[in-house]
Amino acid sequence: MFSNKDISHFANLETPFYYYDLNLLQDTLNTCAAAAKLYNFHVHYAMKANFNAKVLQSIKAVGFGADCVSGGEVSKAIETGFDKGQIVFAGVGKSDKEINLALDQNIFCFNVESVQELEVINELAAKKGKKASVAIRINPNVDAHTHHNITTGLDENKFGVNSWDLPQCAEMLRASANLEFVGIHFHIGSQITNLDVYKNLCVRVNEFAIWFEERGFAVKVLNVGGGLGIDYHNPDQQIPDFANYFKIFSDFLDIKPGQEVHFELGRALVGQSASLISRVLYVKNGKKKNFVILDAGMTELMRPALYQAYHKIENLTRGNEATLKYDIVGPICESTDCFGKEVEQPESFRGDLYAIRSAGAYGEVMASKYNLRDEIRSVYSEEA
Ligand code: LLP
Repeated sequence: MFSNKDISHFANLETPFYYYDLNLLQDTLNTCAAAAKLYNFHVHYAMKANFNAKVLQSIKAVGFGADCVSGGEVSKAIETGFDKGQIVFAGVGKSDKEINLALDQNIFCFNVESVQELEVINELAAKKGKKASVAIRINPNVDAHTHHNITTGLDENKFGVNSWDLPQCAEMLRASANLEFVGIHFHIGSQITNLDVYKNLCVRVNEFAIWFEERGFAVKVLNVGGGLGIDYHNPDQQIPDFANYFKIFSDFLDIKPGQEVHFELGRALVGQSASLISRVLYVKNGKKKNFVILDAGMTELMRPALYQAYHKIENLTRGNEATLKYDIVGPICESTDCFGKEVEQPESFRGDLYAIRSAGAYGEVMASKYNLRDEIRSVYSEEA
């Protein structure tokens, strides 16, 4: 919810911009850290959700590690000051250059997604006379019951090693002098709101841990990935239920003494902490439809165009007494450049300020230059 002070501050600023509520971010991080601490769980922040420098600083300060998916993210995590021993590197397509970079930096571990990748990491580590720590990312074939574009743990998805390839993986691990197996890794999808899904994941994690142990491997780390969703319909109900989320893993995982449980949360940590603030450029009233044309578009927030994702849209200038239905669109030359169709809003006018809420995760970081747009700016609550 924005205060009148926020809104009058926005009125003096050039739009569009991402507005970060750093206090809310801090509260969210503290709540998550306290809930994880109860079970001694380790949280790695999934940097892909948002690598804004101020956001990263706050996350580092709370003591979380970093979950990276590119050499760029590994470098950025190190630059930000994340402990190298708390950096993990996932991704189905790590290049030799990226693997070498991570080897040189002695990160905690590679989350390996194919048998061939194991072979390549072993070769590259051998050339450097190093031992690479690896966890095997397993595709557990668990349905995350989320949007199909952000599901990752089903047989048809490209991610992870399929269960039928595990014997070959185990062989490779045994035969590779420059690999050190540290554990198993999973990530079944994003924006998961049905927490029962995680109970199913735990059952599979337990099965795979036993599978490795029976073959003589010590499973030191159980990394269960991320995916905890946020409530896009109620952005003011801002802090996700971390306590219940972690409790499920404590209740349903068979955690052996000395075994560590790792998490890779992205969206749940940052999603509610930012809104995209934009101004109405034009209002077009048609016979069939009314359009509010904003100065922000899919180039600044791609989720609605890409996944038909819902974000709550608010007219900050006129309050919330909705009287008309508008399609809220951007200026980009694409028909999918639409933040919401038939959205009830107060009658809107050129110059009105609009907020597109819950845009802290996969917002700023997925912005593009399409149409040669200006780079999106960020404004922070502490400046208000
Ligand atoms: N770990 C791995 C291996 C991942 O691939 C991801 C996200 C995460 C952790 C963090 O997931 P989270 O806790 O944020 O759900 N752009 C899409 C989401 C893509 C998620 C990709 N992987 C969106 O805007 O909804």
